[in-house]
Amino acid sequence: MPAGSDLRMATGNGENSYAANSRLQEKAILETRPVLRKAVEELYTSLPPRSTMVVADLGCSSGPNTLLVVSEVMGAIRAYTDNKNKWEEEEEAQRAIELQFFLNDLPGNDFNLVFRSLEHFENLGVRLGEKEMPPYYVAGLPGSYYRKLFPCGSVHLFHSSYSLMWRSKVPEEISSGTHLNEGNIYIGETSPPAVIELFQEQFQKDFELFLALRSEELVSGGRVLLTFLGRKSEEMMMHGDVSTLFELVAKSLRSLVLKGRVEKEKLDSFNLPYYTPSVKEVKALINENKLFNIEDIRLFESNWDPQDDSEGDVVLDCARSGANVAKCIRAVLEPMIIDHFGEDIVDELFMLYASIVAKHMKKAKAKYPIILVSLKKATGRMV
Ligand SMILES: C[S@@+](CC[C@H](N)C(=O)[O-])C[C@H]1O[C@@H](n2cnc3c(N)ncnc32)[C@H](O)[C@@H]1O
Repeated sequence: MPAGSDLRMATGNGENSYAANSRLQEKAILETRPVLRKAVEELYTSLPPRSTMVVADLGCSSGPNTLLVVSEVMGAIRAYTDNKNKWEEEEEAQRAIELQFFLNDLPGNDFNLVFRSLEHFENLGVRLGEKEMPPYYVAGLPGSYYRKLFPCGSVHLFHSSYSLMWRSKVPEEISSGTHLNEGNIYIGETSPPAVIELFQEQFQKDFELFLALRSEELVSGGRVLLTFLGRKSEEMMMHGDVSTLFELVAKSLRSLVLKGRVEKEKLDSFNLPYYTPSVKEVKALINENKLFNIEDIRLFESNWDPQDDSEGDVVLDCARSGANVAKCIRAVLEPMIIDHFGEDIVDELFMLYASIVAKHMKKAKAKYPIILVSLKKATGRMV
């Protein structure tokens, strides 16, 4: 049974790894650039001389995006200093600000890959042209962001992308079998209303806890920038394209049950610790707990196929797009599938899934809704 602690993306940097299949997530990080730049500039300029700006990326995973966040923050500082004249530049250098980055993920994350890529990144990545940039330091921080990770009042900026749709666990009533979600692995068309409610409640508990913990850890005036998969419709049964995506994984698994390759009980006891909220649900929770002011909240969309940057509604090569989507979802689900069903079915499952997704795409181009939230800690000035 997958729970938060079993969650990890496919390790290494081989063909099926998360590192080699995270272009979709990269697009979301780039989409949020203007919002990130605004938050970084505000924080950076309000720091007193000789202080350290602490930035934490939560759910950093391992791959190109892990260090992309570091370079985006440094890029934001570069963009700010680019507008300075010589005199202002010297004044800026005298402030002697330093940056400390913490890269957080669950302990099963491939931190070795992240650490190995750091040296290369430091040599190449953040020199950012001729300009002298503030010194920066990068550390890994294993642990769940549904627990306290930092001392109180010690972090200036939390960033998290494509992670907060993962729950701390599958709701207990579902994992214990008290409520069955037969033939589904997430909220599907045949999920009973009680099961849907349990997924929703788990999200509410997790998100409230996440906000309370981050609020404690932030300096006053500190910022939080989150992007995660959401849904467009308020109607739970029309749970949207992410639900469909997992519905198609469930369909592939059901087909393996019919072939006798997977036991039905195994499928019925497999549920993802997942939930994609609507903007309305997210707003309501943030406003209710009054710990943060919402600076920005919006929803944007990204094509299912990470390699498809086109705008129109038609998928040109459904077979190819199906294979691309299958690779991307495999990089995310493979460790959980192996833990629960064993290694034998993985290739067959994702080949089947690619063809089912291709068929689905013939009807229309499918898109992920992504929620972007920029928050500011509610009270006072920065300490
Ligand atoms: C799809 S990846 C996104 C990685 C990266 N931020 C990006 O944009 O490419 C989601 C990451 O969130 C991590 N994650 C999920 N739940 C977590 C938790 N409770 N605490 C820390 N990390 C978590 C997963 O291990 C995974 O590496």
